Amino acid sequence: MKILVLLSFALIFFPFNVATEDEHSDMHDLMAHLLTPASEAIWESSGYVITEEGEFSLEPTNEEEWERVLYGAKVITESAYLLNIPSRSKNRKEWVLFAGLLEEVGEKAFEAAENKDVESLFEIGAELYQVCVSCHQIYMTD
Ligand code: HEC
Repeated sequence: MKILVLLSFALIFFPFNVATEDEHSDMHDLMAHLLTPASEAIWESSGYVITEEGEFSLEPTNEEEWERVLYGAKVITESAYLLNIPSRSKNRKEWVLFAGLLEEVGEKAFEAAENKDVESLFEIGAELYQVCVSCHQIYMTD
């Protein structure tokens, strides 16, 4: 089956480059093993895949799949606190701001998942992506 169009943040934009496994750092581990899987739970649960056979929604189809979105959303919200512990935030103004945005977006995603609102979830997925990219533009060196 030939895939023609993908309208999914997970499939279009991801992955951010993940360093090789031996390059461990505190931030690497938090990003690669906590924030990334949490975000994928959202990005992989909204949008469409359009193929020659037709259009397929990535929308969750059962409680277990919705539960994964709720879990991801909650992890994203709570990760704001983890990013803002002083040894990580170093009191940097924009850092704290971006972490705050993650908290907000996570809460919105949680609400959308509770309401099984896939359209909102797709928009929130785009917002989430913007927050990741904005912080990386400033703080992700190389
Ligand atoms: C508050 C700032 C900030 C936010 C917000 C942020 N990141 Fe990051 N991210 C970083 C920094 C700093 C690095 C570089 C870490 C390193 O390599 O030491 C990074 C690196 C990464 C990496 C590469 C990890 C590696 O080292 O291989 C991935 C993947 C990643 N982030 C995913 C995400 C995702 C997904 C989001 C949004 C849900 C996100 N990040 C939001 C600061 C942030």
